[in-house]
Amino acid sequence: MATVVPFITEQQIQKAVNEIAGQISRDYHDQNPILVCILKGAVVFLADLMRELTIPHEIDFMAISSYNDDTESSGVVRILKDLDTSIEGRNVIVIEDIVDTGQSLGHILRTLRTRNPKSLRVAVLLKKEGREVVKLSLDHVGFTIPNKFVVGYGLDYAEKYRNLPYIGILER
Ligand code: IMP
Ligand code: MG
Repeated sequence: MATVVPFITEQQIQKAVNEIAGQISRDYHDQNPILVCILKGAVVFLADLMRELTIPHEIDFMAISSYNDDTESSGVVRILKDLDTSIEGRNVIVIEDIVDTGQSLGHILRTLRTRNPKSLRVAVLLKKEGREVVKLSLDHVGFTIPNKFVVGYGLDYAEKYRNLPYIGILER
């Protein structure tokens, strides 16, 4: 049996999301950025973040597969769903739930860069400490966390727990 031990509360998440939204609203005034949400884990983060933005913006979605079992990165990344919108000449902000080794996000950023956006930045809710395999520059990070498997607020284990309003550590 797996149990979920509460780790980051709804209030703490909301505070971090509001801070990031404030920074983006200041930085992208009059720039109509496209928020590129990485499915599925980042949908809850996107939904809360966009409602705190005070500037015009657009959203789009991309899905990749990176994990071939439930918790371990395979290192193999494939685009399952691509963007609907052209990002050429646009200000793009990638919205991701969590960076572990950085391989998934590294692949996404390389792919998006080939499409010549005007700018490309990244907002991640969570970053695991000391796990970096691919060096990435992350413009907004909600929380840096230890190397534990976390679920909730969009994050899953085998497609479960995404609906938890808080983030918890999955203990097995
Ligand atoms: P990376 O490619 O190793 O950085 O892995 C990033 C992806 O793995 C994320 O987008 C998540 O889908 C998944 N992932 C990594 N760590 C966790 C976790 O603790 N809980 C849930 N999903 C995770
Ligand atoms: Mg993800």
